[in-house]
Amino acid sequence: MDIFNLVLLTLHNLTRWAVVVFGVLAIVRGFSGWLGKKPWKKLDNQTGLWYNNLFDIQLLLGIVLFFSRGWQSALLNFGAVAGTSSVRFFAMEHWLLMLIGLILAHVGRVQSKKAHSDVAKHKRAALWFLASFVLLLVAIPWPFMAGYGRPLLRFFGLF
Ligand code: HEM
Repeated sequence: MDIFNLVLLTLHNLTRWAVVVFGVLAIVRGFSGWLGKKPWKKLDNQTGLWYNNLFDIQLLLGIVLFFSRGWQSALLNFGAVAGTSSVRFFAMEHWLLMLIGLILAHVGRVQSKKAHSDVAKHKRAALWFLASFVLLLVAIPWPFMAGYGRPLLRFFGLF
């Protein structure tokens, strides 16, 4: 693999953990604020914002990776590769599920901003972010996924 793809893949691998951590934080803050009837704080807003921002960065890295790794040719011949899960996953399932997850995260942020009470803000953030996060977890190529599992950590080819 060339150095460009190695760097991109490493960044995409590591940013995944930042998205996961901020997703968990945003969901936990949402549920604890909703169920505990807590005030909506600046930190609640910022946690959701960073979950969204990091997800956006991951989308950009993913799009560049998609083309630089040549997945568009698999997508164009989708009929031929649809039966091969290892190819189908990156040609279609990974980005499509992630895109839907990203949209749900953005809807969650907009909806929680629009809500009129603090508890409603927490409730909307909790539920939309949770829905988004479920898709994210399903679409990550975890190592145990046969055929297309990827390492939990990657570092510029050193490991
Ligand atoms: C819609 C946005 C996304 C696109 C287009 C995309 C695309 C890709 C592509 C093309 C690959 C490389 C497959 C290969 O080896 O050729 C990849 C790998 C991967 N993606 Fe995404 N991705 C997106 C979003 C995400 C998100 C949001 C996460 C997690 C938060 C994620 C996690 C991963 C992981 C963990 C890998 C494996 C990295 C490795 O091999 O070390 N992706 N993605």
